[in-house]
Amino acid sequence: MARIAVVGATGLVGEKFLRVLEERNFPVDEIFLFSTGKRKREVYFKGEKHPVLPPLEIPEVDIALFSAGETVARELAPLFREKGAVVVDNSSAFRLEPDVPLVVPEINPEDVKLHKGIIANPNCSTIIMLLPLYPLHLRWKIKRIITSTYQSVSGAGRDELEKLERGEEYRDEIIPWIGEEFEDGYTKEENKMLYETRKIMHEPGIMVEATCVRVPVPYVHSLSVTVEFEKRPNPEEASEILKKAPGVRVEERKLREIKDRDEVFVWRIRYSRVFENGLSMWVAGDNLRKGAATNAVQIAELLT
Ligand SMILES: NC(=O)c1ccc[n+]([C@@H]2O[C@H](COP(=O)([O-])OP(=O)(O)OC[C@H]3O[C@@H](n4cnc5c(N)ncnc54)[C@H](OP(=O)(O)O)[C@@H]3O)[C@@H](O)[C@H]2O)c1
Repeated sequence: MARIAVVGATGLVGEKFLRVLEERNFPVDEIFLFSTGKRKREVYFKGEKHPVLPPLEIPEVDIALFSAGETVARELAPLFREKGAVVVDNSSAFRLEPDVPLVVPEINPEDVKLHKGIIANPNCSTIIMLLPLYPLHLRWKIKRIITSTYQSVSGAGRDELEKLERGEEYRDEIIPWIGEEFEDGYTKEENKMLYETRKIMHEPGIMVEATCVRVPVPYVHSLSVTVEFEKRPNPEEASEILKKAPGVRVEERKLREIKDRDEVFVWRIRYSRVFENGLSMWVAGDNLRKGAATNAVQIAELLT
């Protein structure tokens, strides 16, 4: 049994942490929940009300699940670590630090063992993209990936989701900017997809050209993906490989059917017209589940 803390327990990802811990019957001995305390003072976990407090006193826990953004992570993760916790952080604060494992349990579970008190959960679009690409990489070896993302508004947090729901922003628009833009014209989100892919797959030579786009849907990220391999792939075999891949479904689904599912869905697998050794496909997954909470709880399971 483990003592667990959730920092950001009232946020979109934080709430999913609680549901995923319940559903997977994670062995929780005691749970400590933190947020700013402004939005909600109590939340339900396993049918009981639990207080949500500002993190003024840091408890001794085994695992601290963080989903409160980069600034909070930088400030509080070291304090939880000092008190003996292993922190699993959803923000981008530590993802590219050399002594912080960046883990997708279906791809690089062994990296968890290298932690020094902090493990990073990767970017949501990167997790969703790599879950089906990694088994194909093992078969044909990926050289380059070109992707355009269609990212839901829940990926930007509760305040933004509420703006969409109130009709104030996002409606009738698609926005080809997520995160700050750098001098070369690429954005922070697009860089995450490149550098995190290399780190998770242990393949520093892979190139990822991403265009990350916010679309006016509440939940589920979708991606158009074209991959160039070293060897000649074929769509039928790719489909067979993916049908057996953990966490992947080769099925066409509506977004509302993908919401709250842990699997990543892949369909429209076909030959690329541009790359001789290429495949193109459509990929979709719930950004709050496999893109965030489920992946982090799977990491926590590897620790227990
Ligand atoms: N949304 C996604 O699909 C997704 C996917 C992968 C990773 N992430 C990452 O996960 C993190 C959280 O995302 P989210 O979508 O859940 O955001 P969110 O809905 O805005 O929730 C943020 C949470 O952090 C809490 N918080 C903010 N400042 C705090 C402070 N100073 N001390 C303690 N708690 C504080 C908030 O508390 P209040 O409710 O009291 O304000 C809330 O519980 C971000 O780093 C995000 O990049 C998100």
